[in-house]
Amino acid sequence: MAAKLKKIGVLTSGGDSPGMNACIRAVVREGISRGMEVVGVYEGYRGLLNEKFKTLSARDVSDTISKGGTILFTARCKEFHEEEYQRLAAENCRKHGIEGLVVIGGDGSFAGAQKLSHFGINTIGLPGTIDMDIACTEYTIGFDTAVNTALEAIDKVRDTSTSHERCSIIEVMGRNAGYIALWCGIGTGAEDILLPESYDYDEQKLINHIIENRKRGKKRHIIVNAEGIGHSSSMARRIEAATGIECRATILGYMQRGGAPSARDRMAASIMGAIAADLLAEGKTNRVVAMQNGKYVDIDIDEALAMQKHISDYEVSVSQSLAI
Ligand code: ADP
Ligand code: F6P
Repeated sequence: MAAKLKKIGVLTSGGDSPGMNACIRAVVREGISRGMEVVGVYEGYRGLLNEKFKTLSARDVSDTISKGGTILFTARCKEFHEEEYQRLAAENCRKHGIEGLVVIGGDGSFAGAQKLSHFGINTIGLPGTIDMDIACTEYTIGFDTAVNTALEAIDKVRDTSTSHERCSIIEVMGRNAGYIALWCGIGTGAEDILLPESYDYDEQKLINHIIENRKRGKKRHIIVNAEGIGHSSSMARRIEAATGIECRATILGYMQRGGAPSARDRMAASIMGAIAADLLAEGKTNRVVAMQNGKYVDIDIDEALAMQKHISDYEVSVSQSLAI
C-alpha cells in the first residue's frame, strides 16, 4: 500500500544510548522501502529550530549498525519546552515538506513529540535510553549494552577489591531510576545494591552488614550504588571510618553510554525503527513503540506519559537473599 506520508524526519534527543544508530538506520531503510523520503534532523530538537536537515540515502547509514553514539548528534534543547519554539519547529518541518517525525529518546523527548503532534506533525517516539526508566515499555534501546559494560567494569573492580580485602562502592548511571544498578548488582553478585526506589538511607545498617559479612568470611564487600543516590566518595570515607575496612569508590560515568551495541540492542533498535517508519507510512501520529509482555506494540503518547514504572520487590528481595 502506498505510504500516506511522502517525507519524514528522524532525530535523536536527550542522552545518547548504544543502538540509536541501528535505530536511525532502520527508520531510513524501512522508510525508503515504503516509498518515503527520510530526512536526518541533526542535534535533536535544536536541529528542528535551526533547520539542520539532510535527506539520508540507504548508503548514508551503511556501517552504522555497530557504532555507539548517534550519527545525528543529540541535544537537550531548553527552548523546546516553550510553545513558540514548538510552533516554529512544526513550521520548519512544513517548510521542508516534512510531514512526520521519528523521535528516539526518553520520556522528555516523547513529551516534545507529543507537543509537535499538536502542531500537526505526525510523530512516533522510540524508547532510546540506557536508564530503562520509561514506564510504557519493558525495554529501552541501549539498556542491555550499558548494563553489560558496567557489569564488565564491576567484575574488574571486584578482582582488586578481593585481593585487597576491601569494600568497594561502584556508582552506576540511571538518573532517578535503579534498573542499571539492580541488574548490575544481581549480575555481579554484589553484597549490597542501593536503589533510589528502595534505599532507606540507614547507613548504620549498611555498616553492620559489612561487619557481619567480614565475620562470615567474606573477603570483600561490593556495593552497587545508583546515581540517583550518589555521594559514593563521601559514603566510602564514612564506611572506612566506621568499620576500619578500607573502602574505595568508583564512579563508572559516561563509559556506560558508549560502545558498540549488543545483539539485543541492535535487534530491538532495528525492529522498533522499522515499526516507527511503518506507523508513519500508515499516517499514524502521537504513538510510542514499546515492548509489553515480550511483544512490540504501539501506544498513544498521552497514555504512555501517564504511566508509572516500579522496580520489582521480588527482584530486590532476591538480590538480598543471593548475597549471603
Ligand atoms: P530524555 O528524552 O532522555 O528523557 P530529557 O528529559 O533531557 O531527556 O529531554 C530531552 C529534550 O526533550 C529536552 O532537552 C527538550 O528539548 C525536550 N523536552 C523534554 N521535556 C519536554 C516537554 N515537557 N515539552 C517539550 N519538550 C520537552
Ligand atoms: O539518561 C541517560 C543518562 O546517562 C543518565 O543515566 C544520567 O543521569 C544523565 O543521562 C546524564 O546526563 P548528561 O549527559 O547531561 O550529563
